[in-house]
Amino acid sequence: MQLLKRPRRLRSSAVLRAMVRETALETGNLILPLFVSEKIATRAAVASMPGVYQWSEGDIVSEAASAHAAGIPAVLLFGIPREKDERASQAYAEDGVVQRTVRALKKACPDLLVITDVCLCEFMSHGHCGITHFENGEAHVENDASVELIVRTDVSHAAAGADMVAPSDMMDGRVSAIRMGLDAAGFERVVIMSYAAKFASAHYGPFRDAAESAPQAGDRRTYQMDAANGREALREVALDIEEGADLVMVKPGLPYLDILWRVKEKFGLPTAVYNVSGEYAMVKAAAQAGWLDEKATVLEQMTAFKRAGADLIITYWAKQVAGWLA
Ligand code: PBG
Ligand code: ZN
Repeated sequence: MQLLKRPRRLRSSAVLRAMVRETALETGNLILPLFVSEKIATRAAVASMPGVYQWSEGDIVSEAASAHAAGIPAVLLFGIPREKDERASQAYAEDGVVQRTVRALKKACPDLLVITDVCLCEFMSHGHCGITHFENGEAHVENDASVELIVRTDVSHAAAGADMVAPSDMMDGRVSAIRMGLDAAGFERVVIMSYAAKFASAHYGPFRDAAESAPQAGDRRTYQMDAANGREALREVALDIEEGADLVMVKPGLPYLDILWRVKEKFGLPTAVYNVSGEYAMVKAAAQAGWLDEKATVLEQMTAFKRAGADLIITYWAKQVAGWLA
């Protein structure tokens, strides 16, 4: 047998493999999610996410600084308030936990890009992402009234010094409302990264422990997307771009790599992927049982995100990945 084509030739040494590698993972593309709670005095471990913590206001700054020192350019901030109500008042309170923390982070690390997740669920007594009324145990989340509170929240984050806001609520029309609200308040330089294609996913369970944001009744299927829908995801992304999103995000990551690929191919905008809590928990659990090699698995998954078109990767592993790449 005379074989003229031998693809293995280019795999025959580490040097050759590195020379022809198509995708490079870089620490500079990673975003670290951080939880800050005003209910604790020192960090609290999140049971379903080994290695992830709720940080106190006193210790989150040094955690962010150590991530920054490791080369991670940005953090994505989530706040857990002491008081929740049915108007999410602490979400847009000038002196709320997120607003205070943004000020502290920007003061301590001016070059660290601070992104705030903007949603109401952590601040609502019922845990839904908008203003909700209940009928026969069913949750009805009001779109337009919720958008008003979301805009107020974004503006308050920008006023505290946030560089970027990331609305994660999936209400209709919120990106244009946020853009207009920010501009009217003089924050035309604040970037909007929209959770553009965010699916109603079983993979958010551990996050809801970490952020204390599980809905008390009903689920999020009337606002987050149906897992079966790819074409609809493209329509959602198109709307957010028309409305003024600077960056778009696909979430979750691994079960939605096809969506990520299609979004990047079709729109070509800088695209982020959220490697969510459930994806983290699965690999952690298998690694702790000795069933998977954590480092090799995570690096392969991160590479898959980049190969599928992600420019930015939001991951709870950001610090470890930075260390592995260094
Ligand atoms: C808030 C929000 C959620 C996540 C990010 N922002 C949870 C949800 O929509 O229920 C999930 C992140 C993760 O699972 O890591 N709306
Ligand atoms: Zn929410």
